[in-house]
Parts: sequence; C-alpha cells; structure tokens
Amino acid sequence: MCRPDFFTVAYRINPWMHPEDPTDTSLAVKQWEVLYKTYVDLGFDVQLVDPIDGLPDMVYAANGGFVLDNIAYGASFTYPERQPEGPAYMDWFGANGYEVRVPANINEGEGDFLLVDDVILAGTGFRSASNSHEELAQIFGRPVITLNLINPSFYHLDTAIAVLDPSPAPGESANIAYLPSAFDEPSLEILRERYPDAIIVNEEDAAVLGLNSYSDGYNVVIASRAKDFERQLLDRGYNPIGVDLSELLLGGGGVKCCTLELRR
Ligand code: ARG
Repeated sequence: MCRPDFFTVAYRINPWMHPEDPTDTSLAVKQWEVLYKTYVDLGFDVQLVDPIDGLPDMVYAANGGFVLDNIAYGASFTYPERQPEGPAYMDWFGANGYEVRVPANINEGEGDFLLVDDVILAGTGFRSASNSHEELAQIFGRPVITLNLINPSFYHLDTAIAVLDPSPAPGESANIAYLPSAFDEPSLEILRERYPDAIIVNEEDAAVLGLNSYSDGYNVVIASRAKDFERQLLDRGYNPIGVDLSELLLGGGGVKCCTLELRR
C-alpha cells in the first residue's frame, strides 16, 4: 500500500476526476489509515511503498504491477501523468526480493489483471493493451482470459469485477462478482459460462466502486456504501467489512485500487 500523503486530483484521466473541485488530503490519509488498520487487524502482512511528491495517484498501488510466483511484472502506464510510478514500484519490488520483469507493453498491473484460482482475468479497452495479456501469459505460464471493458467509468477490470475466492479449497470453485454492463457481449458470455453463480452487482453499488474490493475468501473489504452487494455477500456466507474511502473515490479509486497483492 502507499499512504496518500500527496493525494489530490490535479488532472483528469478518468470520468471520476474533477481537478476543478477541491480535495482534502488529510481526510484521504485518515480514510486510508482505516483501510490499512482493517488489513492489519485481519492479520495481513502489509508492506508500504514511500509516496512521491508530484505523483498524486501513487496511492492506487494496485496499478503498480502484478506479482505472482515471486515475479513482479512491472507497470507501464497509459497516461504520462502516471508513467513515473512504473519505475518507482519496480524499484520497490527489486529492493524487496522480487524478480522484476520490465514490461514491454502498456499495462496497469493489478488494476487490470485479476488472479482467480489458477487463471488470470485480464481487462483491456481503456488502459492495459491486449499485447500485455500475451506478455503476462508468457511470464506466468497461466491461462490469461481477455475481457473487454466498454464503460469509461469502469476503466480498470478491478472496478468491474471483484474476486471473491482468490484461492479456493481443492474441489471448490472460485467465485466472482461483476457488473454486466461494463463488458461487451463476447466477454459477458465468457463470464456467464465460467462463473454461473457469480454475484451480479447493481449499477448503484458499482457507482460507489463497490466492486473494487479485497477478499481473502471469507472477509471481503468493500465500500461501506455498497449496501446491496453487502447483503448479497452476507447471503452467500461471506463476511463483508465496509470502509469509507469517499475522498479517494474523487480520483476514481476504491479499496482494491489501494491494494496490491504480493504473492511469493
Ligand atoms: N486516478 C487513477 C487513474 O485513473 C485511479 C486508479 C484506480 N486504480 C484502480 N486499480 N482501479 O489511473
């Protein structure tokens, strides 16, 4: 995670961002600290990367890379405003014992790449280029399934899909939650076929980035305003934990955006 010490909205690279409106950096830090503490209380080993002045979006650590099998596939950002974050995160991975792969193609890390059991769901359409999906498959030797995003408000895959069971017990199938209207028809067919029991999240909950959540398979940290999603999670036997990241929503990010999973 990356403390939002320098968070603000200084440019507009997604429809959520309004640089003309004020932001409150100290409130962003306070809300982020609640998320940090939630993870620590759940027993997660949370590592921090130093924030950099002038990189206001660095708080969205999910975009810093994709880490699996102790290999960190670096990010190469779409927009110049965020490009310096790529090397900053790669430096951290290298200094912390991960094998760094410098990306050849545009990709925004775990914002668009979601590990579900042994497959990687990979988004494209707004940020990560589809050739990064091939690079990902080559590096990690896992099946990579390309999904096309079509709604600019749900520009990263992690705004449109929540992974509920990252690593299910043997014999059990992994489930997800998603927003159907974020995908084109061929991608929807793939999702319906692979995840027939998926939780379908409504537009209202998606509009507070309710899907942008982090699950350990039981505890699901979600936006506290995503009430219908919360109810559906309870019905299915999960333990939803709501946090309020309203200030970070002004940059177009939520719980998952602030979270990059480190898999050794
Ligand atoms: N302002 C950031 C951007 O538009 C938000 C990134 C949100 N991150 C995410 N993983 N969805 O790039």
